[in-house]
Parts: sequence; C-alpha cells; structure tokens
Amino acid sequence: MAKVARIPFIAGNWKMNLDHLQAIAFVQKLAWSLKDARHDFAATEVAVFPPFTDLRSVQTLISADKLDLKFGAQDVSEHESGAYTGEISAAFLKALDAAYVIIGHSERRTLHGEDDEKVAAKVAAAVKHGIVPVICVGETAEDLARYGPSAIPVQQLRGALSGIAGATDIVVAYEPVWAIGSGQAATPEQAEQVCAALREVVAAVLGDEVAAATRILYGGSVKASNIASFMRQSNVDGALVGGASLDIGEFASIAQFLKHVGT
Ligand code: 13P
Repeated sequence: MAKVARIPFIAGNWKMNLDHLQAIAFVQKLAWSLKDARHDFAATEVAVFPPFTDLRSVQTLISADKLDLKFGAQDVSEHESGAYTGEISAAFLKALDAAYVIIGHSERRTLHGEDDEKVAAKVAAAVKHGIVPVICVGETAEDLARYGPSAIPVQQLRGALSGIAGATDIVVAYEPVWAIGSGQAATPEQAEQVCAALREVVAAVLGDEVAAATRILYGGSVKASNIASFMRQSNVDGALVGGASLDIGEFASIAQFLKHVGT
C-alpha cells in the first residue's frame, strides 16, 4: 500500500495521574514548551488524554488560550445514557469537544474485563458521536511466544471494527502488553511488521482509502531516545505514550521527533 501523507500523531495517555489543577499547570507548560521549540502542529498533531475529572478544565484552557493541542478521554461507555452508574457516554465527551477517545487499552482489557465485543460496542458509540476512537490492540508476552507478534492484535482489531462499517476516521494503537511500562520497547522492525498487518485489517474492513489515511501508532516504553526509530517505519504514524507523557520536557521532545528523526 502506497505511503500517503498521514499527519503524525503523538498522544499522551496520562492514565490515572494528575488531578484537574495539576492538569491545568501541565497543559500550560506543555504548550509553552512546544511554542518555545516552534512546534509545527500542522506537521505533527499532539494530544493529551487526561482522566475524566480533568477534561472540562483542559477543554476550557485549550479553547480560551486557543492552544493547538488536542485532547481526548481514556474510555467511554457503549451506552447512550441511563442507569449505568459511574459511566461516561460518548455524547458527554462530544459536548466537551473531545476529539478522541482511547478504547480497549490493555489495562481496561485485563483489569476491567473488556473483551473484543465490548470494545467493538464502545468504538461504535464513539464513531456514532463523531469522536475518533484510538483503538488499542496488543499481545501479551505469552501470546507472543505462542502465536507470534501479529496474530492477536489482528484478531483484536477485526473484532473492534466489526460494528463500524462505513467509518472513515479512526486511529489504531499497537501496544504490546509486555512493552507497556516495562522499559522494554518492541523493536522498530516488529512494530512495523504488526502495524503493516493492522493496516491490512483496516483495508479489508473499511477499504483501501481509509486504510491509507488511518494513523497507526506504536505504544509501549516510548521515549525521546527511541521515538525516531519508530517514526522511520513506513507504517508507524505516531506514538501512544504513557509514562513519558507525564514529563513535559520528555513528551515535548517526543512530539519534536522530526528534529531527531534524521539522527
Ligand atoms: P508506557 O509508555 O508507560 O510504556 O505506556 C504505554 C501505554 O500504555 C500508553 O497507552
């Protein structure tokens, strides 16, 4: 599949870190850091994914100060509204102008029992409300030994896309579970191999044009020192960053990967 112009996407998944006051200070400083570095937001999109309680504050700051940063949520309910204590609907996220929502993160799959069916329902809910799902897939170390690198991510992505025929705007994140928070990132070659296989899945389900335009991210122990090696791969269009997204300098440097991609 020919490489088309896909705008690289650097996304920071804060997980359960930073309350709304910390979030305001963090986003302000991140915006200053990127401005100081003359970050070209048209060339590389940057987004933060704070906890739910921070979203309103982050939205207000971004809109009042006209920051070029995007933001999204870390999860969403598959339901519209009603008796679902503790849940947040895609309609609520849309009302906050959230551009994105992470769905099917491995921590949701393993700690909250989310299976492919649930992930597919959440993806459909997000798409229905015009929020771009960042669909996470990835194999465990056991899966890797047993089935190789792409089998499980491919199966998970097929499941996740099963309810959105006709969707045109999605993001996929390949996050090998063994690489998350371990300090041991996948090799760029492995990330490329799996991301290429995932693009084939998008092509099979949503068509070649959508597949060519879909950003596929790598996630798992991404740092400023290894981002360039991933971004050199033709099917890797960005990164979903966990730990390093909580360090302003490090995250800004990851977003500035173009400055070190040639090194
Ligand atoms: P780390 O970058 O901390 O490995 O986390 C990756 C991740 O889970 C992002 O969603």
